[in-house]
Amino acid sequence: MENLLNKKILFIICGGVSAYKSLESIRLFRKNSAEIKTILTQSAKEFVTPLSIASLSQGKVYDDLFSLENEAEMDHISLSRWADVIIVAPATANTISKLSQGSSEDLASTVILASNKQVFLAPAMNVRMWEHQSTKNNLKKLREYGYKIIGPVIGDMACGEFGEGKMSDPQDIFNLVKNFLINQTKNKKLKALVTAGPTNEYIDPVRFITNKSSGKQGYEIAKSLSKRGFDTTLISGPTNLKIDENINLIKVETTEEMFKATQKNLPTDIAVFSAAVGDFKVIKKNHNKIKKQEELIINLEKNIDILNYISNHNSMRPKLVVGFAAETNELNKNAIEKLKSKNCDWIIANDVSKKDRGFDSDYNEVTIHYKNFKNKEEKLSLKKKSEISEEIVDRIVTQIN
Ligand SMILES: Cc1cc2nc3c(=O)[nH]c(=O)nc-3n(C[C@H](O)[C@H](O)[C@H](O)COP(=O)(O)O)c2cc1C
Repeated sequence: MENLLNKKILFIICGGVSAYKSLESIRLFRKNSAEIKTILTQSAKEFVTPLSIASLSQGKVYDDLFSLENEAEMDHISLSRWADVIIVAPATANTISKLSQGSSEDLASTVILASNKQVFLAPAMNVRMWEHQSTKNNLKKLREYGYKIIGPVIGDMACGEFGEGKMSDPQDIFNLVKNFLINQTKNKKLKALVTAGPTNEYIDPVRFITNKSSGKQGYEIAKSLSKRGFDTTLISGPTNLKIDENINLIKVETTEEMFKATQKNLPTDIAVFSAAVGDFKVIKKNHNKIKKQEELIINLEKNIDILNYISNHNSMRPKLVVGFAAETNELNKNAIEKLKSKNCDWIIANDVSKKDRGFDSDYNEVTIHYKNFKNKEEKLSLKKKSEISEEIVDRIVTQIN
């Protein structure tokens, strides 16, 4: 089997009693032709030897942040860039805690902090350590940061106790990461387009009508799509947000500019319209600044409907068109109506009437309505927008592949 040929895996082993099981994961990746480099924490060396890992992985084993030899050959930043994915297995309570704090006191934590790749953590620890509130809090943070957590599972532990905390089976870890890598390769051939943020509809040269959209959800979706390998374009209304440099960012201001940029970027395989585009625009924009007056009547007209246009585009309709419905009332009823009237594949409904979610918040709670399964809807409970976007993109990957 050659399907992981040219894939590069950085395997980090921490000091837990299940460290020996990682030898089996490494063997499976090697059997599938993946290239492996390994980092052992200082404690890990109490459980497995660098020699056994080096001979099994046929790759270099690193253990020291301040090694002159390693720094000259491949420093910690290059090591994090070299990898396609990073797997931490077993991930100890200690390393999980360090990662949640952004600590970088040893080679493993420094490389992870410096990484721009997907990190998978396979925790393994005693059931009490796993159930401790501090471990739970740390993992919650790591999920929000975008780490993928594999397991742990319930079972008999090396310490003689029983419960949740056992490391996932090496075969399961292998299957999950292999799937991720194979999808990433497939996705590289696919284009994704995301719109995000508000639009400005000008009244005169200095005044405009806008809305409270921050663009955060759309930016997170673009990041998740790019991480999964999609060739991603983000068309953004005015925001102060930053985006990874491998995403093609197009900044626009008005709905018309967003529409033109969208048309220019067709065809695309996936289109996610999360921008809060202005439904109305000023019929006659004043060329000069309007002078102060007792009363001013501004006449508005219906703006171009980008989602509707793309969804009904005969020759260049994307394979998957996802729209957002930001609503303050009758959320799901309005979303279902939008799904039908706009001919898109999914509508993601979010409530923008509350302060703790939706517009301008880091959190969101959404319901996905699917066209192809009559009346099917799925609720994604209140969580960070980064986690919501990961869950949405999980579903996009399943659908598109
Ligand atoms: C015999 C033994 C087994 C251990 N097993 C685990 C374990 O399964 N999970 C864990 O989180 N810590 C375990 N520990 C504690 C860790 O080794 C310790 O927290 C260490 O500081 C982890 O360092 P690291 O995260 O840098 O690898 C074990 C310690 C000993 C002595």
